[in-house]
Amino acid sequence: MKCVSLPLLVIASSLYESARSQCPDYSQYSQQVHQPLSTGRYQLSYMRPSPECRTFNSSVVEDTITSMKSVIKDPDLYRIFENSFPNTLDTAVKWRGVAANNSAEELTFLITGDINAMWLRDSANQMQSYLPLVKANTSTNSLASLYRGVINLQARYILEAPFCNSFQPPVESGIGPSQNQQTPDEFTPPVSTKIAFECKYELDSLAAFLEISTNYYEATGDIEFFRKFQWVSAINAIISTTESLLIGTYAANGSVNTIPYTWERQTTSATETLDNGGRGNPVQDGTGLIRSAFRPSDDSTIYQLFIPANMMFARYLDSASEIMAKIGNQRNTANHMHNFAGRIRAAITQYGIVTHPKYGQIYAFEVDGYGSQNIMDDANIPSLLSAPFFGYLNVSDPVYQNTRKLILSKDNPYFMRGPVINAVGGPHAGLGQAWPMASIIRIFTSSSTSEIQTALKEIVSSTDGLGLIHESVNSFDAHKWTRQWFSWANGLLGQCLLDLQERGLGGVLAASYQ
Ligand SMILES: *[C@@H]1O[C@H](CO)[C@@H](O)[C@H](O)[C@H]1NC(C)=O
Ligand SMILES: *[C@@H]1O[C@H](CO)[C@@H](O)[C@H](O)[C@H]1NC(C)=O
Ligand SMILES: *[C@@H]1O[C@H](CO)[C@@H](O)[C@H](O)[C@H]1NC(C)=O
Ligand SMILES: *[C@@H]1O[C@H](CO)[C@@H](O)[C@H](O)[C@H]1NC(C)=O
Ligand SMILES: *[C@@H]1O[C@H](CO)[C@@H](O)[C@H](O)[C@H]1NC(C)=O
Repeated sequence: MKCVSLPLLVIASSLYESARSQCPDYSQYSQQVHQPLSTGRYQLSYMRPSPECRTFNSSVVEDTITSMKSVIKDPDLYRIFENSFPNTLDTAVKWRGVAANNSAEELTFLITGDINAMWLRDSANQMQSYLPLVKANTSTNSLASLYRGVINLQARYILEAPFCNSFQPPVESGIGPSQNQQTPDEFTPPVSTKIAFECKYELDSLAAFLEISTNYYEATGDIEFFRKFQWVSAINAIISTTESLLIGTYAANGSVNTIPYTWERQTTSATETLDNGGRGNPVQDGTGLIRSAFRPSDDSTIYQLFIPANMMFARYLDSASEIMAKIGNQRNTANHMHNFAGRIRAAITQYGIVTHPKYGQIYAFEVDGYGSQNIMDDANIPSLLSAPFFGYLNVSDPVYQNTRKLILSKDNPYFMRGPVINAVGGPHAGLGQAWPMASIIRIFTSSSTSEIQTALKEIVSSTDGLGLIHESVNSFDAHKWTRQWFSWANGLLGQCLLDLQERGLGGVLAASYQ
């Protein structure tokens, strides 16, 4: 049998490979202009791969793209929508299958885009773009199945390496691991490069698992899914990991605590490593805030009591506790999650709200619990700007509104201003680089027609003719951008335009951006 089946397998997989190899590499494809161009002033490229090269087909997504054509009147804005909304499905579903030890356990390996690895944060948010279209569905061709596959694979990753942020393909895929150009790193605890692509401990990566779980559950009501497989174990790993990171730098008697995670890398960039032997700057013990060594930009924190990730974690830990409560036999864990979320929320209020001489009470970006505060915002989500977007607070919250005014002003050291685009940036892509993702979050958190239209006009005019959402764009020169293939930001734009329609702001979708 083996002698017969082996050559057949080889032939089948080589046919598959040759079909795939005729598809252009999207890293290249997304830097070139393709016909037909949009008919507006900016003449934007068509960027969807041809149908046979798309990595997942969804008829509800196609129907949405078609139906928005009569809603989004500006031809350039519509072109960006049709390119960007399906980008994750078109390009990033690298592999789907089932677990080797359980054929009922779906797995989805969802890459971030130009880097051949799966980030916990990106993959949760890439899926969120399609959330309004997700319904309970057992079919393996459904968006619900794609969701289940991402949750199952994330659970496996978290159980294997809870301090890591991005991961290699599962062994079942037969795809080899990618080489991270920036290794070697020195970090504890050690993890094999066959499992993890990068091991920056970011609190929001763990929050992302709670987020995608909440999203899937609320869209489908599929409690049975959470009883199967490794979801409960993954949540227990998240609880023990984050509780171990409540620790301060010094014990009460003054001795230096041993902390569960350290990281150092040989680098010329301060944001790629941690000082004090990989421990980071000192933080006070007993604040109730969870440490985060890195931000969602994958840059190191200055003060590890990073407020946006604590907000996101508290919000989704609480909603995930409701899933846990419905599972059965998990009441204690559910109560523990709910109470833990409440304690984090109280700590954010106690340590994260500070008084600014000009803006009054605001949320700090990072604090150390000793009184030092980092007043800024960064484009990546979770940010302070996005706090209502991920549901931590109400957009009308006065402390949020004060914070928002500061963030969108020259008093935020990372608000990039210029004739091309005005938006929050961050150290990751560098000074002068504004992030369209932050413009999108500005739209999500505004109901001002003029503010929304200004942001949309800047987005439409700053894609350098490519019709995709780049990671960052220079605020003085639209030709200087980073990352041509960043699926999360693309999906987010689509999600944002659908949200405008949902919020009854169809007028801004019908407006001209020429
Ligand atoms: C998507 O549909 C096209 C036909 O329109 C097909 O060629 C392609 O293989 C499909 N992709 C997947 C991942 O099924
Ligand atoms: C199945 O395999 C995965 C990945 O190797 C492992 O994490 C998991 O514990 C296994 N599950 C069972 C029930 O053995
Ligand atoms: C489930 O998903 C499949 C594949 O997308 C679709 O054909 C089918 O109509 C869906 N079923 C329901 C009940 O929505
Ligand atoms: C100081 O406190 C820590 C944590 O409670 C403990 O592990 C350590 O043994 C104490 N050291 C001394 C010298 O008492
Ligand atoms: C936010 O607060 C306003 C005013 O109190 C209220 O009308 C609205 O429903 C709240 N929104 C959410 C999402 O809770």
